[in-house]
Amino acid sequence: MNSRNEQDRSHILAAAEKLSRERLGGDTSGHDWWHVDRVRRMALRLAREEQADPFVVELAALLHDVADAKLVDDPAAARDELGRLLRDWGAGDKDAEHVLEIIATLSFGSGNRPPMRTPEGSIVQDADRLDAIGAIGVARVFAYSGWSGRPLHVPAEDGAGHEAVPAGVPSGGETAGAPTAGEGAASYPDGEAGTPAGDGGRREAASSGGPLASEEVRGRILAASGELDGAIAHFAAKLLLLKDRMNTAAARRIAGDRHRFLEEYANRFLDEWEGRS
Ligand code: ADP
Ligand code: NI
Repeated sequence: MNSRNEQDRSHILAAAEKLSRERLGGDTSGHDWWHVDRVRRMALRLAREEQADPFVVELAALLHDVADAKLVDDPAAARDELGRLLRDWGAGDKDAEHVLEIIATLSFGSGNRPPMRTPEGSIVQDADRLDAIGAIGVARVFAYSGWSGRPLHVPAEDGAGHEAVPAGVPSGGETAGAPTAGEGAASYPDGEAGTPAGDGGRREAASSGGPLASEEVRGRILAASGELDGAIAHFAAKLLLLKDRMNTAAARRIAGDRHRFLEEYANRFLDEWEGRS
């Protein structure tokens, strides 16, 4: 089934786009159609640099959130449905299975997520992660927080902030799982922050004179946060760790710049909150 021509491929992509627009168009949690469109465009940009199959990359990007656990009750059933649709559209077994594998790997909770097996999967994952940082990432984190009933920031009282997100907290998936307000700090961290890259941010910065500015900013956020529920705490729990999780060189380069913006934003947010600027 590798003999599909350009016209077949554009029909399949158009069908996938239609489905994604229909399913995600009304979402206000940050997984709306325009998130998908940005991921698709970024993934194609990365695919050019990384020499991956642009058809599989675009198809997986278009469908990556359609079967997401945050948006459907039964992700496995939603993936089965996607498999049937892909074959109906004429995607062919090999590409259909590849796309489904990428979507299934993306949907693993962060604690036990296997690495992407193919360059196409690595690229879609990078594009999805890039959309969570930089200026768009800032917008999305506050949009998601509002949608899920979380506050902007929960300040620590009397120096009762967090030294580091505790390791070994059960994984709740990429996000906090079900979008309910008031999940406590114990259920919030998604396991990412307990990894070595995220461990001991404030202590390291304080004891070593702070060679890593990003660890200083993470440390400042954690120390300033009484609960890890606020939008600003999500910067420390996840967003500031993403640049070191990019799979491809192209994404790492783009992430560096977006990461610096996140740090600058979070610092300024806390400066203003604390009456320093
Ligand atoms: P995706 O499904 O696109 O891979 P996520 O579901 O992890 O990404 O997150 C989607 C968006 O919602 C991201 O921009 C992320 O920052 C934001 N988000 C996820 N969990 C939280 C949270 N607990 N608090 C604030 N924002 C969150
Ligand atoms: Ni996504």
